[in-house]
Amino acid sequence: MQKPLIAPSILSADFARLGEEVDTVLNAGADVIHFDVMDNHYVPNLTVGPLVCKALRTYGITAPIDVHLMVTPVDYLISDFIEAGASIISFHPEASHHVDRSLQLIRDGGCQAGLVFNPSTPLSHLDYVWDKLDMILIMSVNPGFGGQRFLPSALKKIQSAREMIDKNAPTVRLAVDGGITAVNIGEAAEAGADMFISGSAIFGSEDYSETIDTMRKQINR
Ligand code: DX5
Ligand code: ZN
Repeated sequence: MQKPLIAPSILSADFARLGEEVDTVLNAGADVIHFDVMDNHYVPNLTVGPLVCKALRTYGITAPIDVHLMVTPVDYLISDFIEAGASIISFHPEASHHVDRSLQLIRDGGCQAGLVFNPSTPLSHLDYVWDKLDMILIMSVNPGFGGQRFLPSALKKIQSAREMIDKNAPTVRLAVDGGITAVNIGEAAEAGADMFISGSAIFGSEDYSETIDTMRKQINR
């Protein structure tokens, strides 16, 4: 397993002060910025696109930006996010007609590629694409909104994904996204996750630094 990473989701940040919020959470110890892209089609909500990613880069953010595409189709936006300065781009296999091609498109653009699994999506989508993957993201809520409750069924799925990663491609990251708090992050780590995406529990807290420190302690307990 690799060094655990904490990735605050800007979905719960104050969008009127986004650059400042991202700076603050990075200074508080975050490793990666998680950037949720929703299209009111693949998921019932609408957020932000490549323009905002580019604006964060222009503002001076140099930390890795992890773009989580909850959109269909995916390929057109993949190209735009490569241009906009994304570091990691992940998408849902159900949202692309040609998963292998979409993964390749991300890698060809110099970004790391990830596949995201909804609570009901089987891990069998991984079977023939191990050589094109840098990250697997297990959703622990149904995608579309921040602030939902962690679904415990995700723990078993994280364990299964960890076994598959160890067997097929040990350098692939295993991320968990949805309802992650300082209370349940330890269990997700124990199940085998090494990247922890958290929106409301970090941005909704009084002190980002204290929350991230507590989370890190729970990961390493
Ligand atoms: C949900 C998003 C998550 C969300 C996490 O569709 O993919 O990244 O922002 O937020 P919390 O941690 O509040 O569940
Ligand atoms: Zn997300």
